[in-house]
Amino acid sequence: MKQRQVQDWSGEDAAELYGIRNWGAGYFDLNEAGEITVRVETASGEIRSVSLMDIARGATERGLGLPLLLRIENLLDAQIARINQSFARAIESCGYGNVFRGVFPIKVNQQCQVIEEIAKAGRRFNHGLEAGSKAELIAALSILDNTESLIICNGYKDEEFINLGLQAQRLGVQIFFVVETPSEVDTIIRCAEREQVRPNIGVRVKLASKVGGYWNATSGDRSIFGLGSNDLIAMVDQLRHHDMLDCLKLLHYHLGSQVPNIRDIRTGVLEACRYYADLVEEGAAMGYLDLGGGLAVDYDGSKTNYTHSKNYSLDEYCVDVVEAIMGTLDSEGVAHPVIITESGRATVAYSSVLLFDILDTTRFEPVELEQTALSDGDHPMLMNLLDAVNNITPKNLQESYNDALYYRDEVRALYLHGQVSLRERASAENLFLQGAQKIRALLDEVDEVPVDLQALPEVLSDIYYANMSVFQSLPDMWAIDQVFPLVPIHRLNEAPTRSAIIADITCDCDGKIDRFIGRQKEHKTLPVHALKESEDYILGTFLIGAYQETLGDLHNLFGDTNVVSVRIHDDGSFDYSREIHGDSIADVLSYVEYQPQALFESFRKLAEKAVKSGKITPQQRKQILHTYTASMSGYTYFEK
Ligand SMILES: Cc1ncc(COP(=O)(O)O)c(C=O)c1O
Repeated sequence: MKQRQVQDWSGEDAAELYGIRNWGAGYFDLNEAGEITVRVETASGEIRSVSLMDIARGATERGLGLPLLLRIENLLDAQIARINQSFARAIESCGYGNVFRGVFPIKVNQQCQVIEEIAKAGRRFNHGLEAGSKAELIAALSILDNTESLIICNGYKDEEFINLGLQAQRLGVQIFFVVETPSEVDTIIRCAEREQVRPNIGVRVKLASKVGGYWNATSGDRSIFGLGSNDLIAMVDQLRHHDMLDCLKLLHYHLGSQVPNIRDIRTGVLEACRYYADLVEEGAAMGYLDLGGGLAVDYDGSKTNYTHSKNYSLDEYCVDVVEAIMGTLDSEGVAHPVIITESGRATVAYSSVLLFDILDTTRFEPVELEQTALSDGDHPMLMNLLDAVNNITPKNLQESYNDALYYRDEVRALYLHGQVSLRERASAENLFLQGAQKIRALLDEVDEVPVDLQALPEVLSDIYYANMSVFQSLPDMWAIDQVFPLVPIHRLNEAPTRSAIIADITCDCDGKIDRFIGRQKEHKTLPVHALKESEDYILGTFLIGAYQETLGDLHNLFGDTNVVSVRIHDDGSFDYSREIHGDSIADVLSYVEYQPQALFESFRKLAEKAVKSGKITPQQRKQILHTYTASMSGYTYFEK
């Protein structure tokens, strides 16, 4: 970064550099102190902002240190309200003849606290839940205490699943069984006849429309779930045969998650409506159209149809859906159905932020070493390297780089053959880094950067070691190259003068983050600040409420992080409304079938043997066993 830019830097530059206002959906901003804030509308309509640093500080003081998963309850409530209100506006402005009933798919974030909050915030909108398994159905039945809300059962369903749903229907719960495969029809009919309950049946259709984006395998002919037109006809005939066509009420499809292009959303609705109208024509009761998930989150803030973005607003989504349904069904004279969506990521992504600190850095820069200065008697290869570095000018960048690389590699080869010393090799590495940094600094001065040198800024970027596990907390970053906004949550009034990739504390070379959102395109490094002595440097990964908490794993036995939920009030104060301490070492060991007590016993025996053989004193044994038990009950992450 140029000196002038560094001096003139302000928070506004940081807001632009990290795109905070682009991806933040109005929920995140920064304050005068250069700290990221969360901005919410409180229960009485006041706009309040709270610094994430204040939240992190308070949590740490309460014993919930970093890494910390922060859930902001107000944002969960706000997203549910935004989705419902936006559909209500679209329905009203288009003159649509029915209502919207959203359901949240539990699989997107199964955490009890999240589902409870969704049920609570969704109550006034009759927002329901989608259950994809027996376990999720049991959770939904117990948590959703509103019989106006819907429970949509997707996924494979055995008799137990269906029986439970049918019996809950007797309590007034509005449950829909969505047929995903032809064989499920038999099971539903059999169970319903036995239980003497008229079931609410839905059917998932396979749309031919294929969508863009990462998760497009869920759409098109080869999608795993759903019935094709032949199966659909067979199902209708089977239900007619059992006099159950009045039970077939819902048509469901799911194009895939994170659909970035509004055109694909519209095409999907149009095709689904054709099926819907034909099922009405066949004599099915119908009444509900379930569009599944797909409402995307603009992770990079680019507002484009790029995989991690979306080229539409929530309002456009709702209006397009409503208009597309009306456009097709009105011409067929079919009554408007209840519109259901199963938006997962759009509901929960914003409300969770992972906060973590940086433990250490590696810089690819020359270092001061004693006794490594070159003198005339040094190996000629070293002297050649020195010459190459001294002669770098903007006119010979590529040539100088090639020379420096060649001489550095020659010195490495000489070292392998024992012909130069370790100190000489260190001098060569240092000189090379000096040359590479000099070339990097001159890249701005040339009109065209040679292809070989374009990657130099990345090659020379720092490594910042983060106190977290990508596999546990951000699994999609590792598994499917998902990008999330990643930003320092403080010091934003200072120019970030370093650029870095982030490495986690698992000892896995995949445990790194080297894709970051950028203004026009993804970047391979993140602008960061130099660490300060005795001051934590804290980064936040944003928009991680969907799928990340659910899919994380125990790689290297790093467990669940600490979690706090906060609720921001009218006066701008906030409560730590809920907290969960992260896994202890004993917890994670027991998940992989160790027995902490048995482990202690083995270690105790080892220590006792050492006392007997005189290696340690009984007092030392006491100390060693104390250290062992304290570690066993400690946090799996780096503790200060
Ligand atoms: C059937 C179904 N409904 C809803 C969703 C949630 O999708 P999204 O998170 O994109 O809203 C999914 C996830 O892929 C799904 O499979």
